[in-house]
Amino acid sequence: MNLRSGRLKGKMTSDAATFTSSMEFDKRIFWADIKCNIAHTTMLKEQKIIPAEDADKIVGALHMLESEGIEALNLDPSVEDIHMALENYVTEKIGEVAGFMHTAKSRNDQVATDLRLVLKEEISEIEEDLLKFIEKILDMASENKETVMVGYTHLQHAQPTTFAHHLLAYANELRRDYERIADAKKRVDMCPLGAAAMTTTSFPINRERTRELLGFERLMENSIDAVSSRDFMAETVFTLSMLASNLSKICEEMIIWSTYEFAMIEMANEYSSTSSIMPQKKNADVAEIARSKTGVIYGELVTIMTILKALPHSYNRDLQEVTPHLWGAVDTARSMLNITCDMLTSITFKKERGLELAKANFSTATELADLMVREKNMPFRVAHQIVGRTVNEAIDKGMKPGEIDSEFLDEVSVEIRGKPLGISEELVKKALDPYEVIKTRKVIGGSSPEAVDEVISHLREFIEGE
Ligand code: ARG
Repeated sequence: MNLRSGRLKGKMTSDAATFTSSMEFDKRIFWADIKCNIAHTTMLKEQKIIPAEDADKIVGALHMLESEGIEALNLDPSVEDIHMALENYVTEKIGEVAGFMHTAKSRNDQVATDLRLVLKEEISEIEEDLLKFIEKILDMASENKETVMVGYTHLQHAQPTTFAHHLLAYANELRRDYERIADAKKRVDMCPLGAAAMTTTSFPINRERTRELLGFERLMENSIDAVSSRDFMAETVFTLSMLASNLSKICEEMIIWSTYEFAMIEMANEYSSTSSIMPQKKNADVAEIARSKTGVIYGELVTIMTILKALPHSYNRDLQEVTPHLWGAVDTARSMLNITCDMLTSITFKKERGLELAKANFSTATELADLMVREKNMPFRVAHQIVGRTVNEAIDKGMKPGEIDSEFLDEVSVEIRGKPLGISEELVKKALDPYEVIKTRKVIGGSSPEAVDEVISHLREFIEGE
């Protein structure tokens, strides 16, 4: 149908048509637009708003288009958008009765419905990918409950932990990313159809019926809101931004840990690049690109928020411009998620190096102070001072943490409080052994193998419940 033979005379310039057309990114809502039109036409027929035989013809043509695919449409930008292309197709097939299809419907409610239908599917796929990723992390964690490494705060050696314990931080973050996007999906899962241009219609349409036919959970009850809201897109892209942020933390650690200085992991060759001039190089390019994609996704979020700002109700064509940024964020986040999963699960953790680092730089100092509190009923602050001084003197004397013994501690204690400590050599050695320290963290969330196992089983239960 030519929309420009009524109010308007003649065509847009070809530049203006290309500038305003959404055809390129409308391809993504092709299947949803067919579904939306079938549901609407079925309801119009049931409500006896349009002749039954014409409704059947329309639905028949739409099924034909479904089997022929998008190539059957004329997607020239001069057609404006996919809704018009689809209507033109049906008109070509069955003649002007195709026009009944648009009774009590506007492209405004139609596009909002299509976008929600497609986004719901995309979110479901991201949810599945996330669950698979978490599961793979849990498998890795199960195998690394005794793999010692040093944990960092401020990127300085802090306390000994295990690779499994660290991996569970990733798993729990990703679980929240899953829950966040699943929650956003509830607000995507709302049906705007029937709002028409902005005030519904005087035809006795049945909005509940189209909602049901399209499989939406809820109806958008205000028709102005229904056609003017894109908060469901902004919210989804925020959840993707947060996911990207969490993934980029993983990537960052893979990059740092694979350096010569850390040497904690070996990156698989499949996820590494070399240099065109420096023959020795093994670079973590996949992780770097993934890290940078986070910025691309944030950019999409800021773009969307900026377009939405201060738009008057209800439909404005500006809303069209939000759509490609939604799909950009969805595609980028999804590829980033899957590549990060593949990359992480293909690394080799260097166990000896992990242990070496955990022993190298006083990461067991907190436990040594805790030992004094426990054994000598000493206030933690006093113990903190004795251990701090001990570390300082050990560094000055060029001693390794493993060389600290009860005698050395007694000397420092005499310096500070005028009396020796009197803790047995056995207990001191135990407090200085990273794996012994790890085993003491038995409370939920801790680094001991039992505590790690408990969290792994909680996460497995969560996955099974989804
Ligand atoms: N291509 C438009 C979009 O994506 C469809 C709705 C157009 N409505 C209109 N009144 N021009 O938002």
